[in-house]
Amino acid sequence: MNNFRYYAPTEIVFGKETELQTAALVKKYGGSRVFIVYGGQSAKKSGLIDRILNNLNENGIENMAMGGVVPNPLVSKAREMTSAAIQFGADLILAVGGGSVIDTAKAVAHGTANPDHDLWEFWSGTPLTKSLPVGTVLTISAAGSETSDSAVLTNDTLEDVVKKGINTPFNRCKFAVMNPELTMTLPKYQIGAGAADIFMHTSERYFGEVTGNHLTDEIAEGLFRTVIRFGPIAVNDPHNYEAMSELMWCGSVSHVGITGLGSKGNAGREGDWACHQLGMAVSALYDSTHGATLTAVWASWCRYVMDTDIRRFAQFARKVYGVEEADDRCAAEEGIRRTNAFFASLGMPLSLRELLGHEVQEEELIALSETCSWGHKRTIGAFRILDYEDMKAIYQMAK
Ligand code: NZQ
Ligand code: ZN
Repeated sequence: MNNFRYYAPTEIVFGKETELQTAALVKKYGGSRVFIVYGGQSAKKSGLIDRILNNLNENGIENMAMGGVVPNPLVSKAREMTSAAIQFGADLILAVGGGSVIDTAKAVAHGTANPDHDLWEFWSGTPLTKSLPVGTVLTISAAGSETSDSAVLTNDTLEDVVKKGINTPFNRCKFAVMNPELTMTLPKYQIGAGAADIFMHTSERYFGEVTGNHLTDEIAEGLFRTVIRFGPIAVNDPHNYEAMSELMWCGSVSHVGITGLGSKGNAGREGDWACHQLGMAVSALYDSTHGATLTAVWASWCRYVMDTDIRRFAQFARKVYGVEEADDRCAAEEGIRRTNAFFASLGMPLSLRELLGHEVQEEELIALSETCSWGHKRTIGAFRILDYEDMKAIYQMAK
């Protein structure tokens, strides 16, 4: 097992009607003037925003709410919200929504605590030394931002649009309210994309340079099996509380770091994350749903890199699906085939053509590889390090 350091201090309050504990949690983490961030319309339409506002008002907590965050959230919106939060004098940022809303709330917290900086500076290498506390009321099981140390934004104000994440301890939410019933209004496509993303947050960590990581492997394989079991049930029956609650808990555990402890790739960081980088370039250029971009490239990535450690892919197939093939390569192939069947059962695309609805042309492959490599300026991955030509080859296979 490689050395690791693990600290993930988010207080999780899980279960039915837990959103009524929001005001108490806000107070516990020092909030007296709360700036609430939400999305397009789902949280308004369901009455959730009104329930949260009542809960805060009844407990004497000053608040200001602002909506309009879109999926693949934009820097321009985060800047607008940051100005409003500074003017309001916010001392805690509350996200009511999914990954896009939570990541925007994190950005607003960083921007509000550092009014002398433009918040994109922190996405461009300026070290973050302070922020405001962020709390979350989660409405979709997917990105895991409620427990992760990451925040991903799309910069729509640059000539070449870029979608980029940062990892910092300041991205950890102080608390996460998780009521699975709040996710029952989700469209099936979003439930499927969410389950795929949850699977991927463990896959990205599982396929790393792993030696003797037995407990972490068992946790990861258990997580895979649980998402594979309950994901399709949730898609088919969003009112199934057991499935929605399993999925919600999987989402947080998958991205809190615990399914990859001790796994370090060649680049020395936890996990691989190449599929995420390949997928984020697709989202940057086509505004595609995050989870769907991952299923479109995953199998191609696997086949491109699997010779790096074929035994790892065989272990995945045997432990997750019970594949009995004695030959490692045959087992590995069967694991990929069954995972694609799982993605299909979630209603997710298995190729770029299925994702984008057209045959991807050579110019598009070049544009995707340019975006993913930041104009030939970076490599991605750790299990196997991939340069521009590798990225293009994988997009070609995923066509
Ligand atoms: O905007 P509204 O109207 O709320 O609709 C949203 C949105 O259209 C809808 N939705 C959410 N909860 C709902 C609901 N509709 C009905 N009922 C509900 N209860 O779902 C749509 C998608 O929402 P979004 O927040 O975009 O979903 P998700 O949680 O999948 O977040 C995706 C974003 O998170 C980033 C992704 O790149 C993407 O930008 N990620 C963030 C990570 C992190 N911070 O750790 C890690 C991930 O790998 C990911 O990159
Ligand atoms: Zn993801």
